[in-house]
Amino acid sequence: MWWENEFVTARKRRLYLGGRSAEEIAGRHGTPLLVYGRRQILANYETLVRTFSKTSRLPLRVCYAMKANPHREILRLLRRQGAWIDAVSPREVEEALRAGFSARRILFTGTSLGHADLRRAFRVDGLTVNIDALEQLELMQELKKKEFREKTIRVSVRWNPGIGRGFNPRAITAGARSTDGTPIKFGVEKSKVLAAFEKASSSGFLPVGLHQHLGSGWVDEDYEVVSTAVDRMIAMASRAEKEGFRLEFLDFGGGFGPRYEERQRVFPLRRYAAHITRRIAEAGLRVEAIAVEPGKYLVADAGVLLLGVQYLKESYGQLFACVNSGTYNSLPRPAIYPQARHHIVHCGRVYDGKMRPVTVAGNLCETGDVFGKEIPMPVPQSGDILAVLGAGAYGRSMASNFNLRDIPEEVFI
Ligand SMILES: Cc1ncc(COP(=O)(O)O)c(C=O)c1O
Repeated sequence: MWWENEFVTARKRRLYLGGRSAEEIAGRHGTPLLVYGRRQILANYETLVRTFSKTSRLPLRVCYAMKANPHREILRLLRRQGAWIDAVSPREVEEALRAGFSARRILFTGTSLGHADLRRAFRVDGLTVNIDALEQLELMQELKKKEFREKTIRVSVRWNPGIGRGFNPRAITAGARSTDGTPIKFGVEKSKVLAAFEKASSSGFLPVGLHQHLGSGWVDEDYEVVSTAVDRMIAMASRAEKEGFRLEFLDFGGGFGPRYEERQRVFPLRRYAAHITRRIAEAGLRVEAIAVEPGKYLVADAGVLLLGVQYLKESYGQLFACVNSGTYNSLPRPAIYPQARHHIVHCGRVYDGKMRPVTVAGNLCETGDVFGKEIPMPVPQSGDILAVLGAGAYGRSMASNFNLRDIPEEVFI
């Protein structure tokens, strides 16, 4: 099957997770249940590191975008592999520290930060704070002068290269406007980047890096735009170096999509890595490290959501498997983003001769609460277990108690 990996496999028409029967796991722990596979996370991490190391001698900082899934076990696992962290709130920073990351390995990229957030960040010795706006820098300057005068605080600039890319308008994070017209709030625009470095430096901050993040969920077709943004980043870094700013790292952000759908052609990671390496060499940049910030690439396909079928319903010629969790309580992506498709597998009969299109409907009071529309599968019965694939990223981390429903338990295999 196109979706099989180290963690999710099919054997004799049954689904196995990390070598254990998905139905047995569901029987033991109950449903709904989020199941994660450690080995798949490690395999994804290794693939990324290996791909970059084939093209570049510069060290790669894999800064895990912990918003994808901040489970402490995942953080610890990645820390042991040598990962770094992309944190977007003070609490994420604190959680990463608790999981054993040194502050030196955390880049804090916030937006709409006020004094209270900044104070929490400045107290963490060694943390790097990403500047999202000149106006944010002004607040940072005020606070430094008042409360952190003697402290060396490492900063980088998150710039907006003027183009972005993502699987959904809401997941495009650079450019002037998203594809649905929403003005994009992130980053320092091109004409203000050098001023940000200068102001940071003159007010006693230590500028150490340049950062961009274009958006989320890239596939093969996104390569041209993404590589153009790499070129822009290199040009901006060259200008900063010429102005005398010594950049320790260039951070190209996250965005590489895992394979959610059969028809999807995955993002050409090796080509991307080679392009970054070549451009850095051509520009003669003196940077010490390249950073990337994968979230879903590392954890999405290492997680599965197991759901119990309550009953099968037929209505106006359509077949619904009505399940025992809601999207917003366990995996909100398909309800929030029309483009987010998750494959769903019948755990006891992965395939058989008679596949029918089944809509997997959650238990919330909202029409959009469907995990998958008209997914071909053997017709499920009450009590059967379904597995929603690609549930390791932005599942639990985005889940709420909407309708006062519980958020599923999480287990590791
Ligand atoms: C600053 C930043 N870096 C990295 C990511 C990770 O994105 P993804 O999970 O698509 O790799 C995000 C997510 O939107 C982000 O905002």
